[in-house]
Amino acid sequence: MGFGIALAIVACSSGHSTSSAPGGSGGSASGGATGNASGGSTGQAGGATGKGSGGATGGVAGAATAGTAGGGSGGSPASFGGTISAVGGAGNSGGAAGGAGGSSGARGGAQGTGGTSGTEQYPVPNPIPADEDGSQLWLRYVKIPIPGRLAEYQAAFTHVVKAGSSDTLQAAQVELVKGLSGLTGTTISVSDQPTGDGAVVLGTPASSSLVKSLSLPGLGAAGTEGYVVQSAEVGGKKGVVIAANTDIGVLRGSFALLRHLQCHRPVEGLALAGTPKIQRRILDHWDNLDGSVERGYAGTSLWNWSSLPATISQRTKDYARANASVGINGVVLNNVNANSQILTSEYLDKAAALATAFRPYGIGVYLSAQYGAPIQIGGLSTADPTSTAVKQWWVTEANTIYQKIPDFGGFLVKANSEGQPGPADYGKTHADGANMLAAALAPHSGIVLWRAFVYKDDGSDRIAQAYSEFKPLDGKFASNAMVQVKNGPLDFQPREPFSPLFGAMPSTPLALELQLTNEYLGEDTHLVYLGPLFEEVLKSDTYAKGQGSTVARVIDGTVHGYATTAIAGVANIGSDVSWTGSHFNQANWYVFGRMAWDPDVSAADVADEWVRQTLSNDPAVVTPVTTMMMGSRQAAVNYMTPLGLAHIMGSDDHYGPAPWISNLSQADWNPVYFHKADATGIGFDRTSTGSNAVSQYFATARDKLASRSTIPDDFLLFFQRVGWDDKLASSGRTIWDELVYRYSVGVDAVATMRDSWKTVEGRIDAKRFKDVGDFLQTQHYEARWWRDACLQYFASVSKHTISSSYAAPAHDLQFYKDLEIKCPSDATKPRCPDIYSGTPSPAILK
Ligand code: GCU
Repeated sequence: MGFGIALAIVACSSGHSTSSAPGGSGGSASGGATGNASGGSTGQAGGATGKGSGGATGGVAGAATAGTAGGGSGGSPASFGGTISAVGGAGNSGGAAGGAGGSSGARGGAQGTGGTSGTEQYPVPNPIPADEDGSQLWLRYVKIPIPGRLAEYQAAFTHVVKAGSSDTLQAAQVELVKGLSGLTGTTISVSDQPTGDGAVVLGTPASSSLVKSLSLPGLGAAGTEGYVVQSAEVGGKKGVVIAANTDIGVLRGSFALLRHLQCHRPVEGLALAGTPKIQRRILDHWDNLDGSVERGYAGTSLWNWSSLPATISQRTKDYARANASVGINGVVLNNVNANSQILTSEYLDKAAALATAFRPYGIGVYLSAQYGAPIQIGGLSTADPTSTAVKQWWVTEANTIYQKIPDFGGFLVKANSEGQPGPADYGKTHADGANMLAAALAPHSGIVLWRAFVYKDDGSDRIAQAYSEFKPLDGKFASNAMVQVKNGPLDFQPREPFSPLFGAMPSTPLALELQLTNEYLGEDTHLVYLGPLFEEVLKSDTYAKGQGSTVARVIDGTVHGYATTAIAGVANIGSDVSWTGSHFNQANWYVFGRMAWDPDVSAADVADEWVRQTLSNDPAVVTPVTTMMMGSRQAAVNYMTPLGLAHIMGSDDHYGPAPWISNLSQADWNPVYFHKADATGIGFDRTSTGSNAVSQYFATARDKLASRSTIPDDFLLFFQRVGWDDKLASSGRTIWDELVYRYSVGVDAVATMRDSWKTVEGRIDAKRFKDVGDFLQTQHYEARWWRDACLQYFASVSKHTISSSYAAPAHDLQFYKDLEIKCPSDATKPRCPDIYSGTPSPAILK
């Protein structure tokens, strides 16, 4: 393979940096609320050679949605309504529905247009870097491979001035020594005072007289978790100061500096500052006490319950380091389908040991509380929230917990949902249940995160039920109770509109629940970077208080003045050496942390900085890989559930396609309930002629979703029913043709990703190169499986045929139906070798 020398691009976003990081000169995409965006087309990078251009339709209520087809890879995200779209796919559409309106063109192409001052060439590594197993995540601290930058860092960082003695400051010091030693390839010493140029001084005004003497003006704005990192003269010597008002702020600043340096950015003019916009940034582990993980695809639980509390592994500490590096400050240890044993003294001691290990890293422990615990482990005959005995049981429980874990965060609760007990069992409301727990936690400043994921088989539209149940309770929750709402009204689908509860509960602080574990998005195997999905949700405009009332502004408290704010991500982390079951799923953990800290940071910037830290700063790696990442979610939407389809996957393992399933006992567990395809058309009418779920949105959003002429294509079948031969205004295609087209584009986008990845061979280690390449191959087979199975099924109900411009499905419908029996349903590693054969042809035939 011949590799050219690529030029350095050093524009790595710090997300919340005050220093400027000019982006590249990628094409721009502009999109109005309903208009089309035209994708930019610069930044042609290694293998991403799509050539079409097209529109990204405006999102629902300003939600950022995406174009669907293969266009060029350049373009900065559209400013409103359209962002991020497909990896360059077949590129033969160039049509209104297609287009890659801006993925990572801000990073420019191989010519380094996005650089700040970097013009240094990155050498092709020789020899190839040693194999890596992914265990170091994004905290690798590899020696800088470009001489100019290396010399700059070696001069700028020579020693760390001893930090205060707290565990947190010591953790910061250790991390800095490790990181700076690795990056500079020298030994960074620790000294009592600055001994020359290159001192790193860290601390608070209270812990460090040097920091105090600098009287840094930015510290006022840093709050209790923020930081200021800047060049400074300390003790007459040139150095860098990492300052904060608290020890944890110092740790966060230390990681911010290391991120900056791992992105090979200049030290000159260094000025980083950050403070979180959301108070509680929590990972929800769905870990069971037997070591299994619900919807976990990365091995077993991180918590080795049998060896706790005696043993805390290095892995546990590394987990805390990783979380701290991205600003995560809370961890729910156990599954929302909770085992009440976690509340026994034996398990609380184990939880307390973990809390002790996490504390230096600023991470608080929370537990999922089983609502029925007073009965299950308390010897009571009821869990009625109005029972004095039940209330007292929880008070005693809370007191016990706080004796063991003084900074315990609180309870997460799944009640009256999917078979879990709850206050409704006693004719009481969710607020009654939450408030009982909140009362027990209040003296200790703990909170309740009460989940809104509720639905039942009562004949009403499933996606409307959470709103119907919770909206009337607004204002009835205790001040230390929050309602935790999944991003969409259904269940972590590849694409859903935002939940209408956001904006609808002004007197009840709402926490946003995202899922990192890709339960419905190819799990560990498929490369699906969730940054664009999170960004789309956060930027969706609820219109609760007029334009700009985005989900981000609701959950950060701006819209309704919430006193408590929180965001949660269902963790994708387990015992696998790579932590997340695949190398690229690490990026979903990373982007969750970065967006939880700052919901306004862009998915593209986060992808860029993750790639630089995790793989390489070489633009011949950064450009194609960020392009792949930014298009990957839209690719998955296309090959799984295009045009607003949802929940058409196999039962139980939620992996492969099964749109035909109709025999499950509860109506809304069946895919046919959601797509409603028959000979006349497809789609769920949720307008006023149907379930009228659209009425749960504020008027501007509602009207847009309700009208055939304004609904974004991406949500069409979620809210409206259409005839197979109806035409889409955006593309001029019929619904049937558009489905065939989008499914096909999705498959070809995976082939493009696979080919793009091949271009980084030799520029990263061979092990990770192979691991990712193997998964991309599997993903291509499975994308084809999704497309072929879904199109065969929809063809059979619609009586339409697939045009000869497209590859014919590899098998007949019965073959795909039979896979349900042939492929054993393994919830943790679903695989279907029957479809891994041959080399799939391009889905769109030229
Ligand atoms: C999904 C998921 C379940 C999970 C549930 C929840 O339905 O498949 O495993 O328990 O969400 O969020 O509670």
